[in-house]
Amino acid sequence: MVGHKVNYYVYTDRPADVPAVPLREGRKLVVLEVQNYARWQDVSMHRMEMISYFAQQRFHREVDYLVCADVDMKFSDHVGVEILSPLFGTLHPGFYGAERRSFTYERRPLSQAYIPPDEGDFYYMGAFFGGTVNEVYKLTKECHQAMMMDKRNNIEAVWHDESHLNKYLLYHKPTKVLSPEYMWDEQLLGRPAILQKLRYVAVPKNHDEIRNR
Ligand code: GAL
Ligand code: MN
Repeated sequence: MVGHKVNYYVYTDRPADVPAVPLREGRKLVVLEVQNYARWQDVSMHRMEMISYFAQQRFHREVDYLVCADVDMKFSDHVGVEILSPLFGTLHPGFYGAERRSFTYERRPLSQAYIPPDEGDFYYMGAFFGGTVNEVYKLTKECHQAMMMDKRNNIEAVWHDESHLNKYLLYHKPTKVLSPEYMWDEQLLGRPAILQKLRYVAVPKNHDEIRNR
């Protein structure tokens, strides 16, 4: 978003480890301390709680839009204000060409993230979504509450916060849907010709080591 004012809000349980990166004018780094959780699933899911909390606490005074992005990623080509819209989501790179029945939505009716087999437009990735502060506040608040309800019912959606994001975006249609150029994983998916640019890409990681401990 060259030429625009940007605040980078970094959520971490280890504020002291965030390096001091020199930034251009109009850019600001804000480190927000959050608690750690033992399971990566909980770390991932609690983003909804943290984003909604800070949205009403401060973001609404500080910015117009929120872009919620995983941290294990790299901006590797142009990503600008073209992504902004009241509410936007990003197609999951593993499912952009897939049929609805193969989407990994939550399929158990007991979960608040449940989507019936004959519904669903797209399968969105949990790692890149956003919109105006108010829209993102509503989304994250509702997803967090849905996850708390699941917890009370002893169920956890198959893809955690991503399942709840998909449920939310099914019934609150986004005003913009980003292509997988905005969310790619070369390690997993190579580089098919349909991609003109790799704009925002997963940093290679050892899933077994990070997830399956
Ligand atoms: C995987 C990804 C998971 C989740 C899943 C959905 O490729 O690593 O985070 O998005 O797809 O099926
Ligand atoms: Mn990630």
